[in-house]
Amino acid sequence: MDLSVDYLGLKLKNPLIAGSSGLSSTFEKVKALEKAGVGAVVLKSLFEEQIMFEADETAAQNRYEYPEAVEYLKAYSQNSQLEQYLKLIERCKNEIKIPIIASINASTEGAWVSFAQKIEQAGADALELNVSLWPGNFDTTSEQNEQHYFNVIEQVSEKVKLPLALKMSNYSAGLAHLIKTLSWTKKVDAFVLFNRYYAPDIDIENLKMSHSNILNFVPDPAVTLRWVALLSGHIRIPISASTGIRSGNDVVKHLLAGAQTTQVVSVLYQNGLGDINQMLIDIEHWMQRKNYKKIDDFRGLLNYKQAENPEIFERIQFMKYLSSLE
Ligand SMILES: Cc1cc2nc3c(=O)[nH]c(=O)nc-3n(C[C@H](O)[C@H](O)[C@H](O)COP(=O)(O)O)c2cc1C
Repeated sequence: MDLSVDYLGLKLKNPLIAGSSGLSSTFEKVKALEKAGVGAVVLKSLFEEQIMFEADETAAQNRYEYPEAVEYLKAYSQNSQLEQYLKLIERCKNEIKIPIIASINASTEGAWVSFAQKIEQAGADALELNVSLWPGNFDTTSEQNEQHYFNVIEQVSEKVKLPLALKMSNYSAGLAHLIKTLSWTKKVDAFVLFNRYYAPDIDIENLKMSHSNILNFVPDPAVTLRWVALLSGHIRIPISASTGIRSGNDVVKHLLAGAQTTQVVSVLYQNGLGDINQMLIDIEHWMQRKNYKKIDDFRGLLNYKQAENPEIFERIQFMKYLSSLE
């Protein structure tokens, strides 16, 4: 069986990518993911806010003893965290054979570009732009929110040559149009659909807001599958499916829907890295049973391209489904 796929201009030995998370935050962890068999690793995101926050904390601890050194300490702390990230990339590139995709999440225009340039110099194979779009600001319109994606890819693609993946949220009343228009800019080389967000909860005993454990909160797995199936036949840019993929069968489903690659995180936190091998075995067994020799033999077979009007297709499926329950 040939499980290899092309993604972001790279050859991956299989379509299973370890998504960005704490599981890829150190060299040892990335090495363990390689050993476990993934086709590529996305490093934990470098968050601009976190860098700024930690820099402030470092500076605050010294505020009273050396007030004149606060600014120096802040700058030093910011640089040293960025340096650590760049060193992680360099070491991974020297000692690890599978592709290394860096990831950034910035909040200011300058940081998107300067982080991306430094990451390119450090030798990453590609860069995932983790753009957090959370439409909870009462003063921002949908157009203004979505413009953010265009701004980020415009700024970064102008300054770096690295292959770029745009990791998006599924919030948008016009998601299909948005992604189609983003694909027309030709400024990104892949879409990662979708990111996973903090999930709020309420503690009814202590009457306070809380949050669900990110790993126990199971997102609806059909969300990613639906959008991959809908979009993959209509845009020319590859999609990496992310969120809710927990088994070899899930990987097969997303490939049939048209994804180029699939990303896993939560299942690895919960079950350990041993699941990677099992998922790959299950994909191979399925391919053997169906007589497929390579991924492209079946990738996209079940996307919505055949449905002339996907909106009506979904509506009819939904009505059929509901009437079957009556
Ligand atoms: C503990 C944890 C940490 C994560 N950290 C990041 C991160 O640093 N950057 C990022 O882009 N996504 C991050 N994610 C999101 C994952 O990369 C992935 O998109 C998401 O978890 C969906 O896949 P899953 O259903 O397999 O968990 C994180 C997810 C988890 C569970």
